[in-house]
Amino acid sequence: MAVSRLVVLVSGSGTNLQALLDAIDADPGGPEGFGARVVAVGADRDGIAGLERAEKAGIPTFVCPVKAYPTREDWDRALTEATAAHEPDLIVSAGFMKIVGKEFIGRYEGRIVNTHPALLPAFPGAHGVRDALAYGAKVTGCTVHFVDAGVDTGPVIAQGVVEIRDEDDEAALHERIKEVERRLLVDVVGRLARHGYRIEGRKVTIQ
Ligand code: GAR
Repeated sequence: MAVSRLVVLVSGSGTNLQALLDAIDADPGGPEGFGARVVAVGADRDGIAGLERAEKAGIPTFVCPVKAYPTREDWDRALTEATAAHEPDLIVSAGFMKIVGKEFIGRYEGRIVNTHPALLPAFPGAHGVRDALAYGAKVTGCTVHFVDAGVDTGPVIAQGVVEIRDEDDEAALHERIKEVERRLLVDVVGRLARHGYRIEGRKVTIQ
């Protein structure tokens, strides 16, 4: 079985990235057993823990800040090229807080996995945890899905449910979501890599 090449995109603390790295390391078969390895980590900003985690693990990194390019399209092209240089089979957007553009989607649609801290289609966007709390929802969770041209609108692969407690604030709730999210992401990425998958319309089947 070929080992899938993962490029992971991050913008922050990178605990989802770390969960993937740990799972690959902990598998008795290593990347061969897990079915995937992280070949590079990309970010839209410098100085974040996510990049430090990659560097500590000896994984190549690249950084494409939006502000470094004259237009959003130029940024998207640069991100696409920097990603493509690592020849990924799958791209994992793990807390990457930028919406990728036409070039990136055109090249990689069906191969970009995102994790979102809410039960989509509820509470898409940059503040999924805050919005669920403000709405007064009683349950929320996380969604691992393929990325399409919309914001958090692509086909759902898996979801995890988390109860909202009366005493929750955004930070406490997000922390409990992230515990579920890390396990879900590791499970999904491993299964996609090991078994392959089909996307038919909105339906994703892991083979
Ligand atoms: C995760 O909870 C992820 O779902 C969220 O950012 C966090 C990143 O955590 N992403 C979004 O909100 C995207 N809209 P991490 O950097 O510790 O992996």
